[in-house]
Amino acid sequence: MIQFSNVSKSYDEDVVLRDVSFAVEKGELAYITGPSGAGKTTLLKLIYCAERPDKGQIVVSSWDTAKLKQSTIPYLRRNVGIVFQDFRLLYNKTVFDNVALALRIHDMPPKEIKGKVNDVLKEVKLAHKAEILPQHLSGGEQQRVVIARAMVSRPTVLLADEPTGNLDAETSKTITNLFREINARGTTVLIATHNDSLFHGTGRRVFHLKDTHIEKETIG
Ligand SMILES: Nc1ncnc2c1ncn2[C@@H]1O[C@H](COP(=O)(O)OP(=O)(O)OP(=O)(O)O)[C@@H](O)[C@H]1O
Ligand SMILES: [Mg+2]
Repeated sequence: MIQFSNVSKSYDEDVVLRDVSFAVEKGELAYITGPSGAGKTTLLKLIYCAERPDKGQIVVSSWDTAKLKQSTIPYLRRNVGIVFQDFRLLYNKTVFDNVALALRIHDMPPKEIKGKVNDVLKEVKLAHKAEILPQHLSGGEQQRVVIARAMVSRPTVLLADEPTGNLDAETSKTITNLFREINARGTTVLIATHNDSLFHGTGRRVFHLKDTHIEKETIG
């Protein structure tokens, strides 16, 4: 589902990834971990083509990303939901509009948009806050809006970058459970985090990124 084969990526002289190979299976929930600056965000960006590798092959679903034309990237992105490290919510728009925006750019009829947004807001348990502005939500609720926005187009892959970075332990647990539910419904999930407690005891595969390569693979 996500396959890296000998992928290298540098920013100028700065080598971030060198000959990285790993694969996340279809329907799997896996973690990528490593210290700050290890390249977790870079690795996720390579998956959704916000960065391109210098070398190597990255296959996502049925796409070989190296062969993707710029014009095909939006199709890939519809199949890859992204939970950004820095949320990227529009704070002058309601929860509903933030989630709907991803669908409005595809010319979908308003009635269909409404149905899809309400469904996904129910799944993240925020249906009752649809008309509220994000700044009036807690950090955990804002994170759930970000997850709803990523899931509204029903992607086959969900990427989450440090999704519990600013949340307390209890709220982190709620978010973790949400990813588990999303995965149980069939979505492949890859979560990047430096926080061991997020994968500890999950029984899921964990890829450890360190010094430009995947140092080891463990079971959380
Ligand atoms: N656009 C860029 N231009 C130049 N260097 C970059 C760029 N993006 C990232 N880097 C560098 O690449 C390295 C890896 O960064 P990255 O953001 O992928 O790490 P990370 O593991 O996500 O860290 P964190 O846990 O702090 O989020 C860092 O040394 C960073 O400074
Ligand atoms: Mg990062």
